[in-house]
Amino acid sequence: MGRLRTFIKSISKPFLNAGLRFYYRKPRKYHYQGIEVVVDPSVFPPQLTLSTKILLEFLNTLNLEDKDLLELGCGSGIISLYAKKLGARVTASDINEIALENLRKAASKNDLEVRVIHSNLFDRLANDTFHYIIINPPYYPKAPKNMKEKAWFCGENFEYFEDLFSQLPNYLSSDNETYLILSQDCDLKHIASIAQKNSIELDVVKTITKLGETNYIYQARL
Ligand SMILES: C[S@@+](CC[C@H](N)C(=O)[O-])C[C@H]1O[C@@H](n2cnc3c(N)ncnc32)[C@H](O)[C@@H]1O
Repeated sequence: MGRLRTFIKSISKPFLNAGLRFYYRKPRKYHYQGIEVVVDPSVFPPQLTLSTKILLEFLNTLNLEDKDLLELGCGSGIISLYAKKLGARVTASDINEIALENLRKAASKNDLEVRVIHSNLFDRLANDTFHYIIINPPYYPKAPKNMKEKAWFCGENFEYFEDLFSQLPNYLSSDNETYLILSQDCDLKHIASIAQKNSIELDVVKTITKLGETNYIYQARL
């Protein structure tokens, strides 16, 4: 089954990539639970990928009322806006300015107030604490050539995870729950080993298989 899946994927991937490129040659709207966001071609597309939708559904299982939530690397911002709708006080951060500009507009259009911060990982979040941190990280090991690729590639040597896990311990506590989604397509062992090097344990709290792909939601704990 594993080999068949790999074979089908190797054939369908170029078509999927071409389809994605064609669809995202211009900004596209995305709707979830009555919330509308605009997704620029340089921003991670929630429409055609599974991870964003899985995290959106996962938010329903958390008690967000009056809690401080950070979406680190918010992309389109749909997760941040939905978390606000569920009652959280939300900070949405990303390294991509275009994503943040569109999120500011969407927040005002949807009447959902979120704090939007341009930040490389936690650089501009140094004095904050959060009850929840939600991360859908870039995880393919390749050097990103531009802003668009930063949504997908974590650097040849997993630099994104090296930096993330060296900073994250400052934000983990008994009052914090940090969740991170990863797919079977990434090097889970290597990513977990970088976490461990920084005294972080990654525990699977949910396993979701959809369309032949398995995604895992991990909780990061000290
Ligand atoms: C896989 S996308 C997820 C987007 C959004 N959270 C979602 O689930 O739809 C990863 C996001 O992380 C952002 N990102 C990548 N490197 C970053 C960094 N060093 N600091 C902050 N954000 C970063 C990308 O710009 C992108 O928006």
